[in-house]
Amino acid sequence: MSFPLPPNSTIGIIGGGQLGRMSAQAAARLGYKCHIFTPEMESPASLVSARTTIADYDDLKALRNFAEQVDVITFEFENVIAEGLDILANIKSVRPSPHILRISQYRIAEKTCINQFGIATAPWRAVHSPADLEKAIAELGLPSILKTSRLGYDGKGQVMLRSMADAAQAYPALASMPLILEGFVDFACEVSVVVARGADGSMAAFDVVENRHRDHILDLTLAPARIAEETAAQARAIARKIAESLDLVGLLAVEMFIDRSGKVLVNELAPRPHNSGHWTIDACPASQFELHIRAVAGLPLPPGERHSDAVMKNLVGPEETALWPEILQTPGLIPHLYGKTEARLGRKMGHVTRLFPRGSLPGEFGIAAALGPLAPR
Ligand SMILES: Nc1ncnc2c1ncn2[C@@H]1O[C@H](COP(=O)(O)OP(=O)(O)O)[C@@H](O)[C@H]1O
Ligand SMILES: [Mg+2]
Repeated sequence: MSFPLPPNSTIGIIGGGQLGRMSAQAAARLGYKCHIFTPEMESPASLVSARTTIADYDDLKALRNFAEQVDVITFEFENVIAEGLDILANIKSVRPSPHILRISQYRIAEKTCINQFGIATAPWRAVHSPADLEKAIAELGLPSILKTSRLGYDGKGQVMLRSMADAAQAYPALASMPLILEGFVDFACEVSVVVARGADGSMAAFDVVENRHRDHILDLTLAPARIAEETAAQARAIARKIAESLDLVGLLAVEMFIDRSGKVLVNELAPRPHNSGHWTIDACPASQFELHIRAVAGLPLPPGERHSDAVMKNLVGPEETALWPEILQTPGLIPHLYGKTEARLGRKMGHVTRLFPRGSLPGEFGIAAALGPLAPR
Protein backbone atom coordinates (compact mmCIF):
# COMPACT_ATOMS: atom_id res chain seq x y z
CA MET A 1 0.00 0.00 0.00
CA SER A 2 1.32 3.42 -0.83
CA PHE A 3 0.71 6.62 1.05
CA PRO A 4 -1.36 8.75 1.28
CA LEU A 5 -3.98 6.06 1.81
CA PRO A 6 -6.86 6.62 -0.61
CA PRO A 7 -10.40 6.95 0.74
CA ASN A 8 -12.08 3.64 1.67
CA SER A 9 -8.77 2.14 2.77
CA THR A 10 -8.78 0.19 6.04
CA ILE A 11 -6.87 1.35 9.08
CA GLY A 12 -6.05 -1.42 11.54
CA ILE A 13 -6.18 -0.32 15.17
CA ILE A 14 -4.75 -2.46 17.95
CA GLY A 15 -6.91 -1.98 21.05
CA GLY A 16 -10.64 -1.51 21.42
CA GLY A 17 -11.04 1.20 24.07
CA GLN A 18 -12.33 4.76 23.85
CA LEU A 19 -9.11 6.02 22.26
CA GLY A 20 -9.70 3.58 19.41
CA ARG A 21 -13.38 4.52 19.26
CA MET A 22 -12.65 8.22 18.83
CA SER A 23 -9.84 7.48 16.36
CA ALA A 24 -12.28 5.35 14.34
CA GLN A 25 -14.85 8.15 14.41
CA ALA A 26 -12.23 10.56 13.04
CA ALA A 27 -11.18 7.99 10.44
CA ALA A 28 -14.78 7.57 9.30
CA ARG A 29 -15.08 11.30 8.71
CA LEU A 30 -12.00 11.11 6.48
CA GLY A 31 -13.59 8.30 4.47
CA TYR A 32 -11.62 5.39 5.97
CA LYS A 33 -12.78 2.11 7.45
CA CYS A 34 -11.34 0.71 10.65
CA HIS A 35 -10.57 -2.84 11.68
CA ILE A 36 -10.14 -3.24 15.45
CA PHE A 37 -7.99 -5.90 17.15
CA THR A 38 -9.16 -6.49 20.72
CA PRO A 39 -9.71 -9.38 23.13
CA GLU A 40 -12.99 -7.78 24.20
CA MET A 41 -16.50 -8.44 22.82
CA GLU A 42 -18.48 -5.28 21.95
CA SER A 43 -15.55 -2.98 22.70
CA PRO A 44 -16.06 0.81 22.49
CA ALA A 45 -14.03 0.93 19.26
CA SER A 46 -15.58 -2.07 17.54
CA LEU A 47 -19.07 -0.67 18.16
CA VAL A 48 -18.26 2.11 15.65
CA SER A 49 -15.97 0.22 13.24
CA ALA A 50 -16.43 -1.86 10.11
CA ARG A 51 -14.61 -4.96 11.35
CA THR A 52 -13.20 -6.49 14.52
CA THR A 53 -10.81 -9.33 15.25
CA ILE A 54 -11.43 -10.69 18.72
CA ALA A 55 -8.25 -12.32 20.00
CA ASP A 56 -5.62 -11.95 22.69
CA TYR A 57 -2.76 -9.50 22.13
CA ASP A 58 -0.28 -12.40 22.19
CA ASP A 59 -2.19 -14.50 19.63
CA LEU A 60 0.44 -14.36 16.88
CA LYS A 61 -1.70 -16.13 14.31
CA ALA A 62 -4.57 -13.71 14.82
CA LEU A 63 -2.17 -10.75 14.60
CA ARG A 64 -0.85 -12.11 11.28
CA ASN A 65 -4.36 -12.52 9.84
CA PHE A 66 -5.30 -9.05 11.02
CA ALA A 67 -2.23 -7.49 9.38
CA GLU A 68 -3.11 -9.17 6.10
CA GLN A 69 -6.58 -7.60 6.08
CA VAL A 70 -5.68 -3.95 6.72
CA ASP A 71 -3.76 -1.23 4.84
CA VAL A 72 -1.81 0.27 7.76
CA ILE A 73 -1.55 -0.58 11.46
CA THR A 74 -1.69 1.73 14.45
CA PHE A 75 -2.42 1.53 18.17
CA GLU A 76 -4.61 2.85 20.91
CA PHE A 77 -3.03 0.39 23.36
CA GLU A 78 0.74 -0.01 23.34
CA ASN A 79 1.38 -3.26 25.17
CA VAL A 80 1.68 -5.75 22.31
CA ILE A 81 4.59 -8.17 22.90
CA ALA A 82 7.77 -7.63 20.88
CA GLU A 83 7.25 -10.78 18.80
CA GLY A 84 3.75 -9.63 17.85
CA LEU A 85 5.05 -6.23 16.79
CA ASP A 86 7.65 -7.89 14.55
CA ILE A 87 4.98 -10.01 12.87
CA LEU A 88 2.80 -6.96 12.20
CA ALA A 89 5.72 -4.91 10.87
CA ASN A 90 6.79 -7.71 8.51
CA ILE A 91 3.41 -7.60 6.80
CA LYS A 92 2.29 -3.94 6.82
CA SER A 93 3.46 -0.46 7.76
CA VAL A 94 3.18 -0.05 11.51
CA ARG A 95 2.84 3.55 12.66
CA PRO A 96 4.30 4.52 15.12
CA SER A 97 7.11 2.07 14.47
CA PRO A 98 7.65 -0.89 16.85
CA HIS A 99 10.85 0.59 18.29
CA ILE A 100 8.84 3.48 19.73
CA LEU A 101 6.30 1.12 21.26
CA ARG A 102 9.07 -0.95 22.83
CA ILE A 103 10.50 2.19 24.43
CA SER A 104 7.18 3.40 25.79
CA GLN A 105 6.31 -0.07 27.13
CA TYR A 106 9.33 -0.10 29.39
CA ARG A 107 9.88 2.77 31.83
CA ILE A 108 13.63 2.09 32.09
CA ALA A 109 14.11 2.39 28.32
CA GLU A 110 11.75 5.37 28.19
CA LYS A 111 13.58 7.40 30.83
CA THR A 112 17.01 6.40 29.47
CA CYS A 113 15.99 7.55 26.03
CA ILE A 114 14.51 10.88 27.21
CA ASN A 115 17.65 11.66 29.22
CA GLN A 116 19.81 10.74 26.21
CA PHE A 117 17.93 13.36 24.19
CA GLY A 118 19.16 15.86 26.81
CA ILE A 119 15.71 16.23 28.38
CA ALA A 120 15.18 16.25 32.15
CA THR A 121 13.05 13.75 34.08
CA ALA A 122 12.64 13.21 37.81
CA PRO A 123 15.85 11.62 39.12
CA TRP A 124 15.46 7.84 38.82
CA ARG A 125 17.27 4.52 39.29
CA ALA A 126 16.60 1.06 37.89
CA VAL A 127 15.84 -1.44 40.66
CA HIS A 128 16.52 -5.13 40.06
CA SER A 129 17.11 -6.27 43.66
CA PRO A 130 16.52 -5.25 47.30
CA ALA A 131 20.13 -4.03 47.38
CA ASP A 132 19.47 -1.79 44.34
CA LEU A 133 16.44 -0.36 46.12
CA GLU A 134 18.39 0.42 49.28
CA LYS A 135 21.12 2.14 47.26
CA ALA A 136 18.54 4.06 45.18
CA ILE A 137 16.80 5.33 48.32
CA ALA A 138 20.13 6.42 49.77
CA GLU A 139 20.84 8.36 46.55
CA LEU A 140 17.41 9.84 45.81
CA GLY A 141 16.07 10.21 49.35
CA LEU A 142 12.50 9.92 50.60
CA PRO A 143 9.73 10.40 49.75
CA SER A 144 10.16 8.66 46.44
CA ILE A 145 7.98 6.55 44.18
CA LEU A 146 8.58 2.90 43.34
CA LYS A 147 7.05 1.92 39.99
CA THR A 148 6.84 -1.25 37.94
CA SER A 149 8.76 -0.91 34.69
CA ARG A 150 5.88 -2.25 32.60
CA LEU A 151 2.08 -2.20 32.37
CA GLY A 152 1.34 0.68 34.74
CA TYR A 153 -1.69 2.88 34.12
CA ASP A 154 -3.90 5.19 36.18
CA GLY A 155 -1.42 4.94 39.05
CA LYS A 156 -1.53 1.13 39.13
CA GLY A 157 1.82 -0.53 39.78
CA GLN A 158 3.30 2.28 41.84
CA VAL A 159 3.74 3.00 45.52
CA MET A 160 4.87 6.14 47.29
CA LEU A 161 7.66 5.38 49.77
CA ARG A 162 7.91 7.58 52.85
CA SER A 163 10.04 5.30 55.00
CA MET A 164 12.32 2.26 54.81
CA ALA A 165 9.40 0.27 56.24
CA ASP A 166 7.27 1.31 53.23
CA ALA A 167 10.08 0.12 50.97
CA ALA A 168 10.32 -3.27 52.69
CA GLN A 169 6.59 -3.74 52.30
CA ALA A 170 6.24 -2.46 48.73
CA TYR A 171 9.20 -4.28 47.18
CA PRO A 172 7.91 -7.88 47.28
CA ALA A 173 4.47 -6.78 46.08
CA LEU A 174 5.88 -5.17 42.92
CA ALA A 175 9.09 -7.10 42.24
CA SER A 176 7.82 -9.68 39.75
CA MET A 177 9.58 -7.49 37.14
CA PRO A 178 12.29 -4.80 37.09
CA LEU A 179 11.25 -1.65 38.94
CA ILE A 180 12.29 1.95 38.96
CA LEU A 181 12.59 4.32 41.86
CA GLU A 182 11.84 7.97 41.11
CA GLY A 183 12.51 10.96 43.29
CA PHE A 184 9.24 12.59 44.34
CA VAL A 185 8.60 15.79 42.37
CA ASP A 186 6.81 18.46 44.39
CA PHE A 187 5.21 19.78 41.23
CA ALA A 188 3.37 23.07 40.80
CA CYS A 189 1.27 21.44 38.10
CA GLU A 190 1.10 18.55 35.66
CA VAL A 191 0.85 19.35 31.97
CA SER A 192 0.92 17.50 28.67
CA VAL A 193 1.51 18.16 25.01
CA VAL A 194 0.13 16.09 22.14
CA VAL A 195 2.20 16.23 18.96
CA ALA A 196 1.65 14.61 15.56
CA ARG A 197 4.43 13.91 13.07
CA GLY A 198 4.19 12.73 9.49
CA ALA A 199 6.55 10.48 7.56
CA ASP A 200 7.90 13.60 5.80
CA GLY A 201 8.92 15.09 9.16
CA SER A 202 6.12 17.66 9.25
CA MET A 203 4.75 18.25 12.75
CA ALA A 204 1.70 19.73 14.44
CA ALA A 205 1.36 20.22 18.19
CA PHE A 206 -1.57 21.22 20.37
CA ASP A 207 -1.34 23.76 23.14
CA VAL A 208 0.05 22.78 26.50
CA VAL A 209 -2.76 21.73 28.83
CA GLU A 210 -2.98 21.33 32.59
CA ASN A 211 -4.04 17.96 33.99
CA ARG A 212 -5.55 17.31 37.39
CA HIS A 213 -5.87 13.80 38.77
CA ARG A 214 -8.20 12.35 41.38
CA ASP A 215 -7.39 8.94 42.87
CA HIS A 216 -4.56 8.69 40.27
CA ILE A 217 -7.05 9.00 37.40
CA LEU A 218 -7.23 12.05 35.16
CA ASP A 219 -10.15 14.16 36.32
CA LEU A 220 -9.85 17.53 34.59
CA THR A 221 -7.89 18.97 31.68
CA LEU A 222 -7.69 22.75 31.34
CA ALA A 223 -6.80 24.08 27.89
CA PRO A 224 -4.62 26.03 27.75
CA ALA A 225 -2.49 25.44 30.86
CA ARG A 226 -2.21 28.57 32.97
CA ILE A 227 1.56 28.69 33.02
CA ALA A 228 4.13 31.28 31.94
CA GLU A 229 4.45 31.58 28.15
CA GLU A 230 8.14 30.82 28.45
CA THR A 231 7.40 27.55 30.29
CA ALA A 232 4.73 26.60 27.74
CA ALA A 233 7.17 27.24 24.90
CA GLN A 234 9.70 24.99 26.62
CA ALA A 235 7.10 22.20 27.05
CA ARG A 236 6.14 22.39 23.37
CA ALA A 237 9.78 22.37 22.30
CA ILE A 238 10.42 19.27 24.43
CA ALA A 239 7.48 17.40 22.88
CA ARG A 240 8.67 18.26 19.37
CA LYS A 241 12.23 17.30 20.16
CA ILE A 242 11.13 13.88 21.47
CA ALA A 243 8.91 13.26 18.42
CA GLU A 244 11.78 14.17 16.12
CA SER A 245 14.45 12.25 18.01
CA LEU A 246 12.27 9.11 17.98
CA ASP A 247 11.53 9.62 14.27
CA LEU A 248 7.84 9.34 15.16
CA VAL A 249 5.20 8.78 12.52
CA GLY A 250 1.86 9.15 14.28
CA LEU A 251 0.78 10.77 17.50
CA LEU A 252 2.68 11.19 20.77
CA ALA A 253 1.51 12.51 24.13
CA VAL A 254 4.19 13.75 26.51
CA GLU A 255 3.24 14.01 30.20
CA MET A 256 5.31 16.50 32.16
CA PHE A 257 5.68 18.07 35.60
CA ILE A 258 6.33 21.76 36.10
CA ASP A 259 8.28 22.01 39.35
CA ARG A 260 8.11 24.90 41.82
CA SER A 261 10.95 26.71 40.05
CA GLY A 262 9.20 26.47 36.67
CA LYS A 263 11.44 23.69 35.38
CA VAL A 264 9.87 21.18 32.98
CA LEU A 265 10.45 17.48 33.75
CA VAL A 266 9.13 14.75 31.46
CA ASN A 267 7.15 12.04 33.25
CA GLU A 268 5.86 9.62 30.60
CA LEU A 269 5.36 9.13 26.87
CA ALA A 270 2.29 7.64 25.19
CA PRO A 271 2.69 7.03 21.42
CA ARG A 272 -1.06 7.29 20.78
CA PRO A 273 -4.02 9.60 21.46
CA HIS A 274 -4.21 10.59 25.12
CA ASN A 275 -6.98 11.34 27.59
CA SER A 276 -5.59 14.86 28.05
CA GLY A 277 -6.24 15.52 24.34
CA HIS A 278 -9.98 14.81 24.33
CA TRP A 279 -10.78 18.54 24.55
CA THR A 280 -9.41 18.93 20.99
CA ILE A 281 -12.49 17.19 19.52
CA ASP A 282 -14.65 20.16 20.45
CA ALA A 283 -12.16 23.03 20.70
CA CYS A 284 -10.00 22.55 17.57
CA PRO A 285 -10.75 22.38 13.82
CA ALA A 286 -8.75 19.13 13.71
CA SER A 287 -8.69 16.98 16.87
CA GLN A 288 -5.90 14.76 18.21
CA PHE A 289 -7.80 11.81 16.72
CA GLU A 290 -7.92 13.40 13.28
CA LEU A 291 -4.21 14.22 13.49
CA HIS A 292 -3.54 10.63 14.59
CA ILE A 293 -5.36 9.24 11.57
CA ARG A 294 -3.86 11.82 9.20
CA ALA A 295 -0.31 11.07 10.36
CA VAL A 296 -0.85 7.32 10.06
CA ALA A 297 -2.56 7.60 6.65
CA GLY A 298 0.06 9.96 5.25
CA LEU A 299 -2.33 12.91 4.86
CA PRO A 300 -1.18 16.51 5.40
CA LEU A 301 -1.19 17.70 9.02
CA PRO A 302 -3.15 20.86 9.78
CA PRO A 303 -1.82 22.88 12.73
CA GLY A 304 -3.04 21.89 16.21
CA GLU A 305 -4.83 25.20 16.60
CA ARG A 306 -7.68 25.81 19.01
CA HIS A 307 -10.64 28.05 18.27
CA SER A 308 -11.76 27.93 21.92
CA ASP A 309 -10.44 27.44 25.40
CA ALA A 310 -11.81 24.33 27.05
CA VAL A 311 -12.28 22.29 30.19
CA MET A 312 -12.58 18.52 29.82
CA LYS A 313 -13.99 16.48 32.70
CA ASN A 314 -13.81 12.70 32.70
CA LEU A 315 -16.85 10.66 33.70
CA VAL A 316 -15.39 7.99 35.94
CA GLY A 317 -17.19 5.13 37.66
CA PRO A 318 -20.86 4.67 38.56
CA GLU A 319 -21.36 7.92 40.49
CA GLU A 320 -20.43 10.33 37.74
CA THR A 321 -22.02 8.19 35.06
CA ALA A 322 -25.32 8.35 36.98
CA LEU A 323 -25.32 12.12 36.30
CA TRP A 324 -25.77 11.53 32.54
CA PRO A 325 -29.44 12.71 32.43
CA GLU A 326 -28.47 15.94 34.21
CA ILE A 327 -25.46 16.40 31.95
CA LEU A 328 -27.74 16.17 28.90
CA GLN A 329 -29.96 18.87 30.39
CA THR A 330 -27.13 21.29 31.08
CA PRO A 331 -26.61 23.83 28.29
CA GLY A 332 -22.98 24.12 27.19
CA LEU A 333 -21.80 20.70 28.33
CA ILE A 334 -20.73 18.70 25.27
CA PRO A 335 -21.34 15.04 26.13
CA HIS A 336 -19.29 12.03 25.03
CA LEU A 337 -20.10 8.46 26.08
CA TYR A 338 -17.95 5.46 25.14
CA GLY A 339 -20.55 2.68 24.92
CA LYS A 340 -19.29 0.64 27.88
CA THR A 341 -22.03 -1.35 29.57
CA GLU A 342 -20.66 -1.65 33.10
CA ALA A 343 -19.69 1.46 35.09
CA ARG A 344 -17.14 -0.14 37.39
CA LEU A 345 -15.35 1.92 40.04
CA GLY A 346 -12.51 3.90 38.48
CA ARG A 347 -13.56 3.06 34.90
CA LYS A 348 -13.58 5.87 32.34
CA MET A 349 -17.10 5.84 30.88
CA GLY A 350 -17.15 9.11 28.97
CA HIS A 351 -16.22 12.78 29.23
CA VAL A 352 -17.74 16.21 28.84
CA THR A 353 -16.20 19.31 27.33
CA ARG A 354 -17.12 22.89 28.10
CA LEU A 355 -15.91 25.56 25.68
CA PHE A 356 -15.04 29.20 26.40
CA PRO A 357 -14.14 31.91 23.92
CA ARG A 358 -10.42 31.73 23.18
CA GLY A 359 -8.49 33.62 25.84
CA SER A 360 -11.26 33.50 28.44
CA LEU A 361 -10.77 30.29 30.37
CA PRO A 362 -12.28 31.23 33.76
CA GLY A 363 -10.71 30.82 37.21
CA GLU A 364 -11.44 28.00 39.63
CA PHE A 365 -14.93 29.15 40.62
CA GLY A 366 -15.89 29.82 37.02
CA ILE A 367 -14.73 26.35 35.99
CA ALA A 368 -16.70 24.71 38.80
CA ALA A 369 -19.81 26.68 37.84
CA ALA A 370 -19.40 25.80 34.16
CA LEU A 371 -19.38 22.08 34.96
CA GLY A 372 -22.92 22.17 36.39
CA PRO A 373 -23.78 18.80 37.91
CA LEU A 374 -20.12 17.72 37.62
CA ALA A 375 -18.72 20.58 39.71
CA PRO A 376 -16.27 19.23 42.30
CA ARG A 377 -17.94 19.16 45.72
N1 LIG B 1 8.13 11.20 40.42
C1 LIG B 1 6.90 11.64 40.71
N2 LIG B 1 6.73 12.68 41.56
C2 LIG B 1 5.49 13.13 41.90
N3 LIG B 1 4.34 12.60 41.42
C3 LIG B 1 4.44 11.56 40.56
C4 LIG B 1 5.72 11.03 40.16
N4 LIG B 1 5.50 10.01 39.31
C5 LIG B 1 4.16 9.90 39.18
N5 LIG B 1 3.51 10.82 39.93
C6 LIG B 1 2.04 11.01 39.99
O1 LIG B 1 1.39 9.78 39.68
C7 LIG B 1 0.67 9.89 38.43
C8 LIG B 1 0.77 8.61 37.64
O2 LIG B 1 2.13 8.30 37.36
P1 LIG B 1 2.64 7.87 35.92
O3 LIG B 1 4.09 7.62 36.01
O4 LIG B 1 2.17 8.85 34.92
O5 LIG B 1 1.95 6.45 35.75
P2 LIG B 1 0.65 5.96 34.97
O6 LIG B 1 1.23 4.99 34.00
O7 LIG B 1 -0.17 5.34 36.03
O8 LIG B 1 0.02 7.16 34.31
C9 LIG B 1 1.29 11.09 37.74
O9 LIG B 1 0.38 11.66 36.81
C10 LIG B 1 1.59 11.98 38.94
O10 LIG B 1 0.43 12.64 39.38
MG1 LIG C 1 0.81 8.82 33.38
